[in-house]
Amino acid sequence: MEQSPSDALVFFGATGDLAYKQIFPALQALVRRGHLNMPVIGVAGSSWTDDQLRARARDSLEHNGSVDEQAFEKLSGLLRYVGGDYNSPDTYQHLRQALGSAARPLHYLAIPPSLFGTVAAGLAQAGCAKDAHVVIEKPFGRDLASAQKLNSTLHEFFPEPSIFRIDHYLGKEPVQNLLFFRFANSFLEPVWNRNYVSSVQITMAENFGVAGRGKFYEEVGAIRDVIQNHMLQVAALLSMEAPASNDPDAIRDQKSMLLKSIRPLQPEDVVRGQYQGYRKEDGVAPDSQVETFASVRLYIDNWRWADVPFFIRAGKCLPVTTTEVVVELKRPPLLAFGSQENAVPNQFRFRLSPDVFTSLDAQAKVPGEQMVGETVELVARHHSGDEMSPYERLLGDALHGDATLFTREDSVEAEWAVVDAVLSNPPPVHEYAPNTWGPEQAGEIVVSVGGWHNPLPGDAQ
Ligand code: BG6
Repeated sequence: MEQSPSDALVFFGATGDLAYKQIFPALQALVRRGHLNMPVIGVAGSSWTDDQLRARARDSLEHNGSVDEQAFEKLSGLLRYVGGDYNSPDTYQHLRQALGSAARPLHYLAIPPSLFGTVAAGLAQAGCAKDAHVVIEKPFGRDLASAQKLNSTLHEFFPEPSIFRIDHYLGKEPVQNLLFFRFANSFLEPVWNRNYVSSVQITMAENFGVAGRGKFYEEVGAIRDVIQNHMLQVAALLSMEAPASNDPDAIRDQKSMLLKSIRPLQPEDVVRGQYQGYRKEDGVAPDSQVETFASVRLYIDNWRWADVPFFIRAGKCLPVTTTEVVVELKRPPLLAFGSQENAVPNQFRFRLSPDVFTSLDAQAKVPGEQMVGETVELVARHHSGDEMSPYERLLGDALHGDATLFTREDSVEAEWAVVDAVLSNPPPVHEYAPNTWGPEQAGEIVVSVGGWHNPLPGDAQ
């Protein structure tokens, strides 16, 4: 069920990195589309003025997009700043005054998770939590127990329907397309199961390191940073059952059910890697055991997917930056022409970034006397059109009270349950050279399916 739209936007962490890189550009884009017409209040510890916040917003836009003078002027008129200590009740009283007659604010907590409880309590005490919605950034906890604790802390002040947990991957067009493509095409459904699919691979490769975020990364590592959230969400969209309707909870119910069917990973299902040079990054321990690469083999214990391996790998300092899904079908049972060893399985590929396409590898006869085949690729290329950034999309949805693309309590806990045993008992971390596909041990978990499919940079082959 959609909820009432908000009538003010408050963002905590207004002087921080996330606001600078993502929130100001999203705000300008929302204004440009005519989707933002309410007070926008930035909150942070520094004693800034409204004008300093506006100057920061302009600087952010100059470095992360571009300034649209007309939209920026309108945004400037909406922006207000409230400075103060998050531990002080005065800060929330000032916020209450700044909110004026607004009765249903959306509070965006772009702050470290350790402050979520303090801020939620401060909001409640000052009367700012009633009928309000709250957006929470990842990482949502460090493991299952801390996520459960965080959920119960938030529930003291906000009921579950008012909590919007962001996973920015869900705001990406090609990620939404996975669900759309699956349930808008009847040709897929008969083969989209254990009878026809032999394996699924998801690769999220980045050709850069921790990019100045060594301190943050030391606390996290690849499993917490992207496998527990972005990658499991992509796996869920690929494999969940059709929702009963397009009601936000109908979609989230099916996704949650799927996430709960994933068998918890064990250390032998996981290979961890660390790129050479990581330990010399700022903020990184010289003997760090944190993984910058992880590959996992998981199984979904339900009727549709039993025994089909899903392989996921994600890493920094790999040869390319791209995210790609490959769904491989079983080989044809008998080759009418040629020998069975030459039978090549069909593959669906979903390239999610940076370019976006969906393709199907099929076999066709090579022209000539002989009955021999070759792989041909049927490609549907997606044009970007008037695309919203994930943050514009998600912030806009949250302001409207549409929670479809946000992670519900049961899903976030199910995601942690998948990785929890590996986080508490991690397998060893293996070194790999930058610009390679991770440690060679990563190949061991995919031997049964003939190895990883390494995406090529750029375009469809
Ligand atoms: C973030 C991770 O959630 O996602 C980063 O913290 C990662 O480590 C980023 O680089 C990738 O997102 P995108 O949208 O750039 O593919």
